[in-house]
Amino acid sequence: MTKIVKPTNEILMQAAEIIKNGGLVAFPTETVYGLGASAFNARAVAKIFEVKNRPYFDPLIVHISRFETIYDLWAKLDERALNLAKQFWPGPLTIVLPRKKSIPDIVVAGLTTVAVRMPANKIALDLITYAGVPIAAPSANLFGRLSPTTAEHVAEQLGDKIDLIIDGGKTEIGVESTVIEFNDKPVVLRLGGITLEQIEGVIGRVKILTVAEKPHSPGQLLKHYAPKVKLKIIKNGNYSIPQGLEAGLLAFREAPPGHAFKCVQILSPAGDLQEAACNLFSALHRLEKEAIDIIYAEPVPEIGLGRAIMDRLRKAEGTGGE
Ligand code: TXA
Ligand code: MG
Repeated sequence: MTKIVKPTNEILMQAAEIIKNGGLVAFPTETVYGLGASAFNARAVAKIFEVKNRPYFDPLIVHISRFETIYDLWAKLDERALNLAKQFWPGPLTIVLPRKKSIPDIVVAGLTTVAVRMPANKIALDLITYAGVPIAAPSANLFGRLSPTTAEHVAEQLGDKIDLIIDGGKTEIGVESTVIEFNDKPVVLRLGGITLEQIEGVIGRVKILTVAEKPHSPGQLLKHYAPKVKLKIIKNGNYSIPQGLEAGLLAFREAPPGHAFKCVQILSPAGDLQEAACNLFSALHRLEKEAIDIIYAEPVPEIGLGRAIMDRLRKAEGTGGE
C-alpha cells in the first residue's frame, strides 16, 4: 500500500524529490485531492493517465505557486483572465488560455490551450515551490468516480499505484475548481468552487457551456463523478421508494419525518451551501459503501455553490450539467 504521510517540511521536500524524479504524489488542495506529476515530464504525466484509467483526450490542470509562472505556460494573455486571477488566486479557479509549445502535448491532450490554477492550500503551494516545476494534477480518483476529499478516499481508489499520499485532512471547499476558458468571450466549462456570481462580479456576464455544446472537456461528460450506486435526484418532494429496493438519502438540511431510507447523510443542517459543498463527496463516499440499491439526492438551491453541487449531482445521475 502507498504510504499516507503527514505534511512535515521534511516530507514535503521528499515529495518534491519524487515529483522531480518523475514520480506521482497525491496531495491536498482546497478543493479536492490532486494526483501530481511534473508538468514538464511527459512520461510522468503519462503515468497519471495510466493509474487513473483516464482517457488521453482529457487534459490536465497545471498547478502553480507563483504568479510569474503563467509566463512559462500561457502564450497569450487576456486582461479579463488576469483580473480574475488577481482576484481569486490562490483559489478554486482554473483559467484556460493558449499555451506555450514547451508544455508536453500529453498534459493538454493535444489542445492548443492549457488550464492553470494556483491552489489555496499551503501544502500544495510548498510542494510546487520545492519541486521547482509546475505540477500537472487531475483529481486523485479513478476516472469517472467520486472525487477524493480526504487522504483515505485517495488510498481507497489509488492505494497501491502511486508513490506517496500526503494527508492534509479534509479539503475545505469540497468541489473542484471552476474552469473558465478565454477565447473571444469567456466561457465557463465547469462550475466549481468560485461561483458564477463571483466571476460575473469581476468581468460581467459569462456564458456557461452546456453539455450539448461541449465536446472537449470531459468534466462535461454526461456521467462523471459517479458513485458506484445508482443516484437519482428527488423531484417534486417525492420521497417514495420503489418496492423491494433499499435506498439511501442524501439530504440537504434534514431527513424528512417518517422516512423509509436505510441510511441518511445530511449535507448542512443549517442549509449553508458552503458547508454542503464541503460535505458532498464524503457523504457520497459513505453512501456508496452502504448495502443499498439506490441513492436519492435532495436538490439544493441553485445559487452560489449550489450550482456546482447540482452540476455534480446531475453528472452522478447521468443527466449532465447545466
Ligand atoms: O479543483 C480542481 O480543479 C482539482 C484540483 C486537484 O486542482 N483538479 C481537477 O482536475 O478537478 P480534473 O482533471 O479532475 O478536472 C480538470 C477539468 C476537466 O474537466 C478537463 O477537461 C478540464 O479541466 N480542462 C483541463 N485542461 C483543459 C483545457 N486546456 N481546455 C479545456 N478544458 C480543460
Ligand atoms: Mg476529476
